[in-house]
Amino acid sequence: MQDIQYSQQVPPQISNLEKVKIVIVGECPNETEVKEAKPFCGMSGRVLDEILREVGIDREQCYITNVVQVRPPSNNFGVFYEDKGQKKPTEYLSSCYRRLHEELTNINPNIIIACGEQALRATTGLTGISHWRGSVVSNPAGQKVLPTYHPASVLREWKQRSAVICDFTKARKESEFPEIRQTNRTYDVCYLANDAIRYLTLLKEEKYVSFDIETETNQVTCIAFGCSSRPNWAVCIPFWFGASGSLHSAEAEQQLWSLIKEILESTQIRKCAQNGMYDVEFLQRTTGIEVRNFTFDTMLAFHVLQLELEKGLGFLVSIYTDQPYYKHLIKAPDMDTYFRYNATDACLTMEIALKLERELHDEKLYEFYVTYVHSMVYPLLSMQRRGVKFDEDSRRALKREYSQLRDMLQDKLNMLVGRELNTNSPKQMKEWLYGKDGLNLKEKLKKRKGTGETTVAADEEAIEDLYRETKNESLRTVLQIREKNKLLSTYLDVRLDEDKRIRCSYLITGTETGRISSRTTLRGTGTNLQNIPDGSIRSLFVPDTGYAFINADLSQAEARVVAYLAGELSLIKVFESGGDIHRKNAANIFKVPEEAVTYEQRSMAKRIVHASNYGMGPITFAKNAGIQVAEARRLLNQYFATYPGIVNWHIGVKSRVKQSRKLVSPFGRVRYFYNRRDE
Ligand code: URA
Repeated sequence: MQDIQYSQQVPPQISNLEKVKIVIVGECPNETEVKEAKPFCGMSGRVLDEILREVGIDREQCYITNVVQVRPPSNNFGVFYEDKGQKKPTEYLSSCYRRLHEELTNINPNIIIACGEQALRATTGLTGISHWRGSVVSNPAGQKVLPTYHPASVLREWKQRSAVICDFTKARKESEFPEIRQTNRTYDVCYLANDAIRYLTLLKEEKYVSFDIETETNQVTCIAFGCSSRPNWAVCIPFWFGASGSLHSAEAEQQLWSLIKEILESTQIRKCAQNGMYDVEFLQRTTGIEVRNFTFDTMLAFHVLQLELEKGLGFLVSIYTDQPYYKHLIKAPDMDTYFRYNATDACLTMEIALKLERELHDEKLYEFYVTYVHSMVYPLLSMQRRGVKFDEDSRRALKREYSQLRDMLQDKLNMLVGRELNTNSPKQMKEWLYGKDGLNLKEKLKKRKGTGETTVAADEEAIEDLYRETKNESLRTVLQIREKNKLLSTYLDVRLDEDKRIRCSYLITGTETGRISSRTTLRGTGTNLQNIPDGSIRSLFVPDTGYAFINADLSQAEARVVAYLAGELSLIKVFESGGDIHRKNAANIFKVPEEAVTYEQRSMAKRIVHASNYGMGPITFAKNAGIQVAEARRLLNQYFATYPGIVNWHIGVKSRVKQSRKLVSPFGRVRYFYNRRDE
């Protein structure tokens, strides 16, 4: 370590030390900072400055320092650790910690903002910035520390910015006083059945309660309740813990469950929960309790306010409360911590629910939440519970058929390649696609931009692109094999529930657009049931006796919506006049009489409508339609010239996003856009 030659030291930015209330701790200087001998004056500094400005903190009033005041070789902070896993700091880094502690003791600010993992470790000894960010914690000297993401990390992951803004806003408030002020929350854990009965009897009189269960191996281990009349309190009713087994007699347990049932099934008591669909379904399945009057879900409510942000309780707690990070306690080896964790969840859920309800009202989104979001809870639960009948015999036959087909294709591929090629192995695929011993398609190399770095792509899309460009038969075979494998693993190997029905879990918060998504159930059975491919797979789903499936599909639904939103009268006319919409459209675009529209023109019109709705550029359109880019550009231009209202609508949408980063759908759904702006 001592042998490494460092660049010059970058001293802290010092303002009037007498008045310093906020200290900002970074990691180490960068090239720019070394050149200018000033911390945070490069790219990260610009992000930091913007954030400070936005939350109203004057940089000149802050003391800005770094864990390490020199730039490590190649900017690699790892050199300051003895080991690759960065568990053991070198003696040099430990000396930097000591220097920093001394610095902080001397300045003694009201709040220390620790930016990033290294600053978190150096100031508090804690690890895990994504967990601890937003928490006000104490350092060994008893000073207040508020960890947040590093500005450089915000540059890589722009969405972190909104959390950092919340953290700096919190820090500004915390800078007004030196002590840790934390709401006094009290939790009761009822190890004695009589205590539990007393609390549950009292809860029956409440108007609004929060609830939360913890589960293990398909059993409820404990349930906690909070209530709106006493928002800083919660009670946990424990049932069992690990090897300790059941905590109550069978009789007492039954009595407790019947009181819990009365509360949860009461139509008089409103209920809230975080991700309550999980609790409601689990309780129904394992105890038969049907939770009624579940009217508010903190996760769903936050989804309405902030479509793009995280929605876990840990994140909500960091934004809406003064409770420091506690989610790690779920893994506590002692039962008291575990049960108190459960009570903490219920208590904070009520606290956050009350704040979110107010916020939804203030933002005029409460009605939207009730009408379009919470209203889905019970219907989706019922769909999840019911599932769909699955034709086991046909599945077996289809599985055999697809497996044989896949094996035949694999034999063909091996023959074409001259060896066994595993199409599921990204490593093998990359070597084969781009390597000298394979197809050697280096010149057509496909890349993907991940967070921070660009990687070589050998995924479905890359192979499809390469096939389109080369028409190589072995690539086509790879695609066919992968398609068969996908169908086999998603539908033909799917685990059914014991009653031989197929089910899924619905996620109301599953997308950033507001659509729902679906996936395998929490029991590991079923699959995503929203994207079942056309063809033989669909025939495996069978209606229950006495029922039939109906397939309802409005033709060109999205294009109709676009026509009306854009107010494009000629397109509206096409839709309202009925008949063959694509033919009429093609006639307009290609300027020919309807009767003269060719098959190709009609199908191209269909593609253009879809491409233009999504603002697809000529390159992607050309790729999708299998035409030259120049032709794609010409067709898109022709389409927009025919329907100029759509162009204006696109321009309007873009400028609204640019100006306010906010869009509102005709139903009133709001989306704030946090990512970098692009097309
Ligand atoms: N500049 C600094 O001074 N510190 C950092 O951590 C990053 C950039």
